[in-house]
Amino acid sequence: MRRRKAAPGLSARLFAAQTLVAAVGAMTLWLVASAIGPRIFHEHLKRVATDVTPAMSRHVEDAFRSASAISVSAALVGSLTAAVAISAYVSRRIAAPVIRLAAAASAVADGQYAVRVTPPALGPEFSVLTAAFNAMAGRLEAVESTRRRLLADLAHEMRTPIATLGAYLDGLEDGVVILGGDTMTVLRTQTARLSRLTEDIAAVSSAEEGQLDLAVQPLATADLIAAAATAAADGFSAKGVALLTDVAPGLPRLLGDPDRLGQVLGNLLDNALRHTAAGGSVTVRASAPPQFGGIEIDVADTGDGIPGEHLPHIFERFYRVDSARDRAHGGSGIGLAITKALVEAHGGHITAASAGPGQGSVFAITLPRA
Ligand SMILES: Nc1ncnc2c1ncn2[C@@H]1O[C@H](COP(=O)(O)OP(=O)(O)OP(=O)(O)O)[C@@H](O)[C@H]1O
Ligand SMILES: [Mg+2]
Repeated sequence: MRRRKAAPGLSARLFAAQTLVAAVGAMTLWLVASAIGPRIFHEHLKRVATDVTPAMSRHVEDAFRSASAISVSAALVGSLTAAVAISAYVSRRIAAPVIRLAAAASAVADGQYAVRVTPPALGPEFSVLTAAFNAMAGRLEAVESTRRRLLADLAHEMRTPIATLGAYLDGLEDGVVILGGDTMTVLRTQTARLSRLTEDIAAVSSAEEGQLDLAVQPLATADLIAAAATAAADGFSAKGVALLTDVAPGLPRLLGDPDRLGQVLGNLLDNALRHTAAGGSVTVRASAPPQFGGIEIDVADTGDGIPGEHLPHIFERFYRVDSARDRAHGGSGIGLAITKALVEAHGGHITAASAGPGQGSVFAITLPRA
């Protein structure tokens, strides 16, 4: 089989083009010097020296021709050498960063997202190109690490209920476990947990990808809060935690989807209740701070609080401050990720604050005004 010859590289092509330019320049110079120079000299000689014999004239013209040939050749050799050397240097200088960028792009294509390219000192075009490349590699790296973590967390979350279900089924088969009310409760709890997990994952994915159909409309903030408080009331009274609301009078209406915002407040109230012991209280406050054009709703509790080092992470999917304890409470750590995605889908913003363990927590959401 005949091997295809490799096409010349960028550096070789640039070098060839520049050398060709220099060669054409040299040839033109040579032609002009040999064709035009002697003729002009001849004309001048005829005008100034009228009594010169043809032999003398030929001698003088020969002398002129060889003198100009020698000086033009020397000049050409010098300038051509310099042109070729500079061409070689420039070609290599331009080709090197392109080669490095191509190698980095191949590495990214192979899944090595950690590669970065240092910008060459070759002007703004290359700087923009390398900056864009590095930003792209950085984003791919972040997406990949989120994807890995998500899959690992998901597998981890599913393992316990699936193992429990498997163990009970084995027990039933072997006759060690009898199919009574207790067994049914365990089976139902574990399947409910798995189906909630799948629903939550679907919800957070569609919210984060902006695929939610929000039925946005002007809403009275007081009504929204009253509905959420009514829905949560039973849980609060059962645990002995007070649920208070404090809505500033004459609040302008906000713009949102009542169902989704109900879900947001439900998640925050659910968390607050879960982390507040009997005797504590949870307050939902609404105001329209004059310094910005939206409505602010705060859910503040007097409960466990959140240690400072965990605060930046609690909106991440599957993140729990105390995994063992929070899981025992039935949480899979997706609630706040969904909440944040829903608030942001409304063009709003959510923040969490806590003075530390035992000091309670405050979740503040801001939403646009109608
Ligand atoms: N009001 C709060 N007080 C103290 N810690 C909180 C509070 N709200 C959330 N957290 C912490 O943040 C973590 C993440 O909350 P998130 O709502 O995302 O998950 P979860 O409540 O554990 O599970 P899920 O909401 O999916 O059932 C919780 O596990 C808890 O550790
Ligand atoms: Mg929660």
